[in-house]
Amino acid sequence: MESTRILLEAHEIPTHWYNIVADLPSPPAPPMAPDGTPAKPEQFAAIFPPAIIEQEMSAERWIEIPQEVREIFRLWRPSPLIRAVRLETALGTPAKIFFKYEGVSPAGSHKPNSAVPQAYFNKQAGIGRLSTETGAGQWGSSLALAGQLFGLEVRVYMVRVSYEQKPYRRLMMQTWGAEVFSSPSNLTRTGREALAETPETPGSLGLAISEAVEEAAGRADTNYALGSVLNHVVMHQSIIGLEAKKQFDKIGLYPDIIIAPCGGGTSFGGIALPFLGDQAAGDKRAEKLRAIAVEPSSCPSLTKGLYTYDFGDSSGFTPMMKMYTLGHDFIPPGIHAGGLRYHGCSPLLSQLYREALIEAVAVPQLATFEAGVKFARCEGIIPAPESCHAIRVAIDEALECKQTGEEKVILFNLTGHGHFDMNSFERYFSGALEDYAYPAGEVQKLLAKLPKIG
Ligand SMILES: Cc1ncc(COP(=O)(O)O)c(C=O)c1O
Repeated sequence: MESTRILLEAHEIPTHWYNIVADLPSPPAPPMAPDGTPAKPEQFAAIFPPAIIEQEMSAERWIEIPQEVREIFRLWRPSPLIRAVRLETALGTPAKIFFKYEGVSPAGSHKPNSAVPQAYFNKQAGIGRLSTETGAGQWGSSLALAGQLFGLEVRVYMVRVSYEQKPYRRLMMQTWGAEVFSSPSNLTRTGREALAETPETPGSLGLAISEAVEEAAGRADTNYALGSVLNHVVMHQSIIGLEAKKQFDKIGLYPDIIIAPCGGGTSFGGIALPFLGDQAAGDKRAEKLRAIAVEPSSCPSLTKGLYTYDFGDSSGFTPMMKMYTLGHDFIPPGIHAGGLRYHGCSPLLSQLYREALIEAVAVPQLATFEAGVKFARCEGIIPAPESCHAIRVAIDEALECKQTGEEKVILFNLTGHGHFDMNSFERYFSGALEDYAYPAGEVQKLLAKLPKIG
């Protein structure tokens, strides 16, 4: 009997992160200060430690992973690469479907891959406290865990709709010692203004980021940590794809298609970019590689957004970044993939999409749950709603292979388990879950208000 799990040993945990910036056809567009000039490293110093700022700006291809970080990674890494044989059989496809399972981390997703190094570099810089936001609760849990492991205090602003939908995520963060508040909150000026304007607001990731940044900028002992979007987070997540490459080497295969959900874009970047690095290096196996980012059709930043400079948060505290955006004021519908409700997409991935090096597709909520349930019934693992987006497209691609008879190798990122999302599944089973149309008119209005830069 052949094993369906391709495993690595602790000593095979990568020693360096991969930075795609070194292999981009053109240099990334710089972040901009509000006056329209490129933001300087000093402007980030109020909220980030020096090592993170350096990584954010770096064009080095390989950046060393500190030994202390690798030692913590041993708690759950290397994560398994698993062949979904039972799903293949159920679909009747000749395709080989593999998934990299990031739900084995203590927080249940890929997010600790960046939370641990971010906590480490802040500790190194003498910082004692971190503030952050969380959408689905995955990033907040991950930073709560990482803060605990390095002895840092953590305060989390949790988007209201998730705070209400996911009490156990909040309790997880509290178990790891973090303080958690529903966002918008009364603790910050941004939060108070948002509540005064729309008391019933479901909150948004952009608003919660503003609250966390406002707090970090106003306190010398506190830095800010972001769980997605930025270059250094994309780079930290490259550990997923670097491990997957070693795992495919072990079985003598190479993926034809790589698929991941796309919120801020780091789980997609994490799994796909090390393979795109092969492509850039002229590796024949990667010549025809397709990498597909999957977003919700109700929050389709890559497929329907504008490629322009915009703020990363709703109050405009962050520097402006060139990215596909729906407008920083966009408050997406309260879909159950909370981690995919962000108005923009990572500048690095936006650039790759612009240059047609990656693909993107938007899928409706119900179809993703249908795919996630099918996967759970074949493979056992109950996926996070965000991950269901990747499963939907992996299944669609496998069914396409059934039509054409092609034996493609499909790899997708199973970014997390859905154990804290069971109320979403309940709503799906009871028929209460709905598809939301993309509010094109509202987005057009928001985009028309953006500053014109670059
Ligand atoms: C399980 C899971 N997958 C995917 C994402 C999307 O984030 P990103 O695009 O940064 O990977 C999230 C974000 O919270 C998540 O929790």
